Amino acid sequence: MADLTTQYLGLSLKNPLVPSASPLSKDIDSAKRLEDAGAAAIVMHSLFEEHIEQEDENLARFFHQQSLGHGEADSFHPVPLDYQSHQDKHLKQLMKLKSELDIPIIASLNGTTPGGWVECARALEDAGADALELNLYYIAANAEEDCKSVEDRYVETLRSLKQKVDLPVTMKLSAQFSAFANVAQRFERAGAQGLVLFNRFYQPDIDLETLEVIPRLELSSPSESLMRIRWIAILYGRVKCSLAITGGVHSSEDVLKALLAGADVTHMCSALLREGPEHLATVLQELEHWLEQREYESVTQLKGSISQQHAADPAAFARANYVNVLDSYKPPPGVRY
Ligand SMILES: Cc1cc2nc3c(=O)[nH]c(=O)nc-3n(C[C@H](O)[C@H](O)[C@H](O)COP(=O)(O)O)c2cc1C
Repeated sequence: MADLTTQYLGLSLKNPLVPSASPLSKDIDSAKRLEDAGAAAIVMHSLFEEHIEQEDENLARFFHQQSLGHGEADSFHPVPLDYQSHQDKHLKQLMKLKSELDIPIIASLNGTTPGGWVECARALEDAGADALELNLYYIAANAEEDCKSVEDRYVETLRSLKQKVDLPVTMKLSAQFSAFANVAQRFERAGAQGLVLFNRFYQPDIDLETLEVIPRLELSSPSESLMRIRWIAILYGRVKCSLAITGGVHSSEDVLKALLAGADVTHMCSALLREGPEHLATVLQELEHWLEQREYESVTQLKGSISQQHAADPAAFARANYVNVLDSYKPPPGVRY
C-alpha cells in the first residue's frame, strides 16, 4: 500500500485530507465522524475578530455602567459567575476536540487588523491547538488604500500574531492580490509556515422583489479548484513553506490534481457539508486505489511532479496557452453563431 503520509506546518499527517474550517467542528459527534472517516487533522471553525472586539466593547460598557451606578465601589465590579464569553466557549470546544479526538486540531483566527484580538492566539495555544490558521478575509473596497498598504497590514498582523505564539502559523489568503507570487514570499519572510489558497468570498446578491442586498452562501463547485491548483503549481518550489488548497476540492480527482501541482494538504468543506463526513472515506479510498494502480509508492513521490517547475510545458500555467484555449472553443451541437 502506498505511503500516504505528508508533512504540513511541521506536523506529520497520516494522509493529505484535512477538513477545513466549517460548522462540522462545532459538534463533537461530526468531528469524530470526520476522524473515523480518515481525516488526518481538522481545522476548527474560526474565532472572529468581530466577536472578540464586540464582546470587549460590551464588557467595557457593562463595567462603565456599573461605575456610574456605584461610584463609591469603583474597584468592585462583580461579573456574573455563570458568564461565559464567546472566546471562553470557543476555547472549551477546542479543549473538548483535543480530548475526544486523536488527530491534530488546527485553530483558526479570522480578522483583518493587527488589533488586540490577536492576543487570543496565546489562549488557543494554551488550550492545545497544534497549529494556527490566520484567515485574513478582507475586501479592499477603500479607494484611498493602495495595495502596498493592504499587504503591509497583513504582514503586520502576521508579525504581531507570531510574537504571541510558538505554534506554527499558516495564512488563509484571498486570490485578490495583484502580484500573488511576490506577496506569498513576503508572508513567508514574515514568518508564515504555510499558505492556504484561497479564501472563497461569499457574494452578496440583489433581491429583485424587495430590491435589497441579501447575503448568499453558496457551496462551491469543483471547477473552482482549478485556479487554486494553478497557483499551487506556480508557488511550488518558489516558497519553502507548506501549501494547502481550499476551494472546490470535492473528489479524489481534485485531491490528486492538487497534490500533483504541489499541495501538502487538501482541504474540503462544501463536499463534506453536502455529502456528510463519511464522504472523506470514499475520497481516501479512491486516492489509495489510484496510487496503487499507477504504482506510486507515496504521496511524496507524487507531490509537485506536475508543478510549474516540473511540468513538461511550464507555460501552460501562465499566459502562453491563453490564445489557443480561446481559439479551441466550439459551439455546442445545434447552436449556430
Ligand atoms: C458554512 C461554512 C462555514 C465556514 N466557516 C469558516 C470559518 O469559520 N473559518 C474559515 O476560515 N473558513 C470557513 N469557511 C470556509 C471553508 O473553510 C472553505 O475555505 C471554503 O468553503 C472553500 O472550500 P470548499 O470549496 O471545500 O467549500 C466556511 C465555509 C462554509 C460553507
